[in-house]
Amino acid sequence: MHLRSLVLENFRCYERVELRFARGLNAVLGPNASGKTTILEAIYLLSTTTSPRSGSAKEMIRHGESWARVTGVFTVRDRDLTMRMTLGDPSGGRSGRKTIEVDGREIASRRRAVGRVQSVLFWIGELEVVKGPPSERRSFLNQAIGQMSARYLDDLARYRRALRQRNELLKEIARGGRNGRALAPWTRTLVEAGAAITIDRAEYLAALGSESSALHERLGVGAEALSVNYAPSVGVSGNEEDVTRAFHETLAQMHDREVERGSTQTGPHRDDVTLAIDDVDLRRFGSQGQQRTAALALKLAQARVARARTEDQPILLLDDCLSELDVNRCGAMLDLSHDHEQMIVTSACCPEELERRLADARVITTDGTSADCGYARAD
Ligand SMILES: Nc1ncnc2c1ncn2[C@@H]1O[C@H](COP(=O)(O)OP(=O)(O)O)[C@@H](O)[C@H]1O
Ligand SMILES: [Mg+2]
Repeated sequence: MHLRSLVLENFRCYERVELRFARGLNAVLGPNASGKTTILEAIYLLSTTTSPRSGSAKEMIRHGESWARVTGVFTVRDRDLTMRMTLGDPSGGRSGRKTIEVDGREIASRRRAVGRVQSVLFWIGELEVVKGPPSERRSFLNQAIGQMSARYLDDLARYRRALRQRNELLKEIARGGRNGRALAPWTRTLVEAGAAITIDRAEYLAALGSESSALHERLGVGAEALSVNYAPSVGVSGNEEDVTRAFHETLAQMHDREVERGSTQTGPHRDDVTLAIDDVDLRRFGSQGQQRTAALALKLAQARVARARTEDQPILLLDDCLSELDVNRCGAMLDLSHDHEQMIVTSACCPEELERRLADARVITTDGTSADCGYARAD
């Protein structure tokens, strides 16, 4: 799939702008704070309904305005698809509203809008996947798998609900208010949904691991091997039935400790992913450069796995990742655009490797000299 045009209205620094994109490589160029990341943020918003930068819709609305709107026209499997997201209410109604329209029709639930357009974004925040706590890697998995599978999102919602209920009950049991048997129905749901999540994550990481190792090598760091491994809270050997049994057994063993602590001690909410370079833990011992390249390889791998699974090619959105790569890596990364239907890169500078490819790319420039982030477009 690819994006053909994007209209931003009252979105962050843009009052109104219409941008056109092409298949293949697109370069968004402009000085710092001129609105490059904002463009990728808007595209990502249309594909996931959430911003990578801020949870609140209000922050994205241009200062002094009460609403914002992002409209994208995509080509998905040779058909047009128009996605539009409105933050706030242009007719002056409720300010907290967030409306999503697909081909002009309003979509009632946000979840039904997710996944129609697939995108994979690499931006500075992505480093947290490598450097941050385990919760960052679980969010990565949830977002990556969830974008391809509504069933996974359902399992996740069921799991979270069961976890919450179970934790409340455990606290009540500790206070002597309830009998341990009351846990059973929630334990059943927790295990059922949790086993499905565990299996999905294991499968996904097996695919992601081999793709990311290959990409890491291709990015010109062949001398160092990246390995990505699932570190599940509940052991995964065998099929869903085996995981279910192991999960039940562990919970039974941990019952006393769970009551003592008032929370569920095992399950996918405790999962992690280990990332290593030549068997050395990247989170604790990796250099900034190693962590960055690994995060980039993971993101590019995410796009490949999505393509293999869904037969749709996600749009690759790469924010500011050229400046820190050396010439070879920069060239290798840009060459990956040949493997993808569409790749949109932003850069504050124009490294030689990019300049050499601009003749074949669509160039969009944000003009930082104007407070309104005006733009000029070279077709
Ligand atoms: N809600 C908003 N209203 C107006 N301007 C905003 C808003 N949010 C962010 N900005 C401004 O938008 C500009 C562009 O930001 P960004 O897209 O991150 O730029 P770049 O990626 O080119 O460095 C910044 O100057 C920022 O201050
Ligand atoms: Mg930026």
